[in-house]
Amino acid sequence: VFGLGYIGLPTSLMFAHEGYPVIGVDTNAETVEKLNNGETHIQEAGLQDYYRQVRAGKDFVATSEPCPADIFLISVPTPVTEDKTADLSYVRSVADTIGRLIRPGNMVILESTVPPRTCLDVIAPIIQQLSGLSYETDYDLVHCPERVIPGKILQELKENGRIIGGATRGAAERAAELYSSFVEGEIVLTDTVTAELVKLMENTYRDVNIALANEFHAVCTALGSDSCEAIDLANRHPRVNIHTPGIGVGGHCIAVDPWFIIESAPEQTQLLQTARKVNDQRPHQVASEVIEELGKLNAKSVAFFGLAYKPDVDDLREAPAVEIVRQVAQHDNLEVLVVEPYVDRLPADLSLPNVKLSSTPVAFADADVVVGLVAHREFKSLKLDGLRRKRVLDFVGMWR
Ligand SMILES: NC(=O)c1ccc[n+]([C@@H]2O[C@H](COP(=O)([O-])OP(=O)(O)OC[C@H]3O[C@@H](n4cnc5c(N)ncnc54)[C@H](O)[C@@H]3O)[C@@H](O)[C@H]2O)c1
Repeated sequence: VFGLGYIGLPTSLMFAHEGYPVIGVDTNAETVEKLNNGETHIQEAGLQDYYRQVRAGKDFVATSEPCPADIFLISVPTPVTEDKTADLSYVRSVADTIGRLIRPGNMVILESTVPPRTCLDVIAPIIQQLSGLSYETDYDLVHCPERVIPGKILQELKENGRIIGGATRGAAERAAELYSSFVEGEIVLTDTVTAELVKLMENTYRDVNIALANEFHAVCTALGSDSCEAIDLANRHPRVNIHTPGIGVGGHCIAVDPWFIIESAPEQTQLLQTARKVNDQRPHQVASEVIEELGKLNAKSVAFFGLAYKPDVDDLREAPAVEIVRQVAQHDNLEVLVVEPYVDRLPADLSLPNVKLSSTPVAFADADVVVGLVAHREFKSLKLDGLRRKRVLDFVGMWR
């Protein structure tokens, strides 16, 4: 398994638990060392215990040195570049390594999220060039997109259904047999391009619907109506299900995946491009609202609750809350406190002299204004009664 992150590590452990000897390969030496010392490097419910259990059976080893295997599984990052196209450099690098190690009869599985046609137009040619092997006759090439939700990865890896796209039908069937060792959900077979598209369409659906909710919020606010109430009432219609407006879209999936469709079909994706724009503007709008309120109150300090890209996880990648705090903190002479129970240090973007990681009691005591950005479970249960004299801005409806 190439890439021992949020996807690669739990997936490795699932296979190891079923008795497949798994060699986990990661270029990050610190990650490899930590894992070989018995510790996991990511925060995920139940992962540390599960790791301990699987390691006891000695079916998993972490290394930085790739070696031959029967099955190669790719779960490396696929970020989006500044110009909003997929950075496939990690995938290419792993395909290159596999091209040098692969033997006839092996299987190559891509789990990373990629633009459509990556299996056929990027991975297969690299492997063919280096090994002379063709997916049509010599090895199995499949895309098995990952659709788990952080915070419930172990549970969803087992329970969710899987789409398996094979470069040949036989490849899809053999991969389905492999995954059925631990997947309890339905496994549906298709081709690689459809599987690549399905994964992107799922997250794009969410992005577009969140943009709609955010736009409704802006409309309601401009017209003097409470967007939460309006959406609640609209959702009483049996065929309406408007999402909840928020502070923007973050993480490495919903904010990224639509770009992979857009780059593949720019002419056909006007709605998708607009949705991205609407959601990307949201952190800036929230920061402006906070700054305006701070100005009105002549506030000297503000406490933000939450940085993660969504509730109950430690993942700050593409998190709109980080951008909001960064923008507000640009204002001189403002003390900025951040309460984020899931991290023990601030991200590089927030290493500013006036920004401090804080605790709830200190933030409540010291800040003139309290801002809710991420509805972590522990924040929702906070008692705000003692804060009557402070201004509370809740952008995610967690203290309603
Ligand atoms: N995290 C999720 O919830 C999620 C959900 C669905 C899909 N995905 C997709 O899965 C893929 C992996 O995401 P992730 O969240 O696990 O990423 P991650 O950053 O947590 O982990 C990726 C790992 O790959 C390692 N790596 C980078 N280059 C490597 C190489 N050449 N060889 C070996 N290891 C290498 C990194 O050091 C890192 O440990 C991405 O395409 C992502 O879009 C993620």
